[in-house]
Amino acid sequence: GAVELGPYRHYMQKEIFEQPRAIADTLDGIEGIVAELFDGAGQDGRSGASAWRVFQEIDSILILACGTSYYSGCTAKYWLEEIAGIPTQVEVASEYRYRTSVPLPRQLVVTISQSGETADTLAALRHAQSLGLTNTLTVCNVATSAMVRESKLAYITRAGVEIGVASTKAFTTQLAGLFLLTLALAQSKGRLTPEAEAAHLKAMRHLPVALQAVLALEPQLIGWAEEFAQKDHALFLGRGLHYPIAMEGALKLKEISYIHAEAYPAGELKHGPLALVTSDMPVVAVAPNDALLEKLKSNLQEVRARGGVLYVLADADTQIDSGEGMHVIRMPEHYGQLSPILHVVPLQLLAYHTALARGTDVDKPRNLAKSVTVE
Ligand code: G6P
Repeated sequence: GAVELGPYRHYMQKEIFEQPRAIADTLDGIEGIVAELFDGAGQDGRSGASAWRVFQEIDSILILACGTSYYSGCTAKYWLEEIAGIPTQVEVASEYRYRTSVPLPRQLVVTISQSGETADTLAALRHAQSLGLTNTLTVCNVATSAMVRESKLAYITRAGVEIGVASTKAFTTQLAGLFLLTLALAQSKGRLTPEAEAAHLKAMRHLPVALQAVLALEPQLIGWAEEFAQKDHALFLGRGLHYPIAMEGALKLKEISYIHAEAYPAGELKHGPLALVTSDMPVVAVAPNDALLEKLKSNLQEVRARGGVLYVLADADTQIDSGEGMHVIRMPEHYGQLSPILHVVPLQLLAYHTALARGTDVDKPRNLAKSVTVE
């Protein structure tokens, strides 16, 4: 039946606040990491393909997706290479299908899609199959979709129905599923000790509580949104694992508030975007307390030195403090490799409240569709 809004003003807001539940559902019933989580869907009474067998056969990964799903793929690349040690490529589906690529016979093709019906992603999957790439896996939110039917292996995300055109809970549940996939692949390659597995699962189980604490930052983000609503442009910076999160933050803002936004890996600032920095263009920085923090801090100084105004999402213990031209929201804790799942949430809230302040149609932004089933 119809999905009720309850106490929320928009589906997007409701879906942002459902994320702790959706992530908890992702882990429900999972005792340990097993390849079977990714077994084929088994259409028409046939039993599905065995993921364990497929994982033994592959030695690289090609991820294909569009929009927000593409950014979850970009994030997963870092996990897959670092934790599972599997070379991973990520490509926008509409580009892959129209270029001459070199198929690697031992490659696993992973499509990511909320709907499972996006025309470009589906065509890219079929294109890969036509090149002889038969080991295919989809991370998808709709069990009955074409993507699930046409892939050898499938993982169904537990977001539940997503109505807002700007994807939120589908993204974070994709990330959770892709993290589980990384662990399952690492295990199948003999790279996951039982201790590491237990530690990763423990961290994942704490995510719903950590997400609640991030959602509690909403009032501070409303404050930022009032300032963003007056602007025409915004720049989002991130590094490493959080560069795709900066891209997703910029996408959210442009989709629903119509403010022009772009993301840069912070180390590239000096190769172009610094020329754009003025006090009129807010610069958002995703600043987790990771190995790149000191590098990021000096990138932020470069922005400050040119009169840029910074909005920093800083982890606990980062020693980045509010001051002149420097607005800091402190994240409740540092989350290691799962940090992108937490850092994207304030960016969703920032986009939502900026759109609200500008009076745009949050759930149905102009010219955009929830699912793009024609090319
Ligand atoms: C559209 C939606 C986006 C979504 C993208 C890919 O552009 O507005 O929110 O990320 O399609 O959709 P998919 O269903 O394949 O994830």
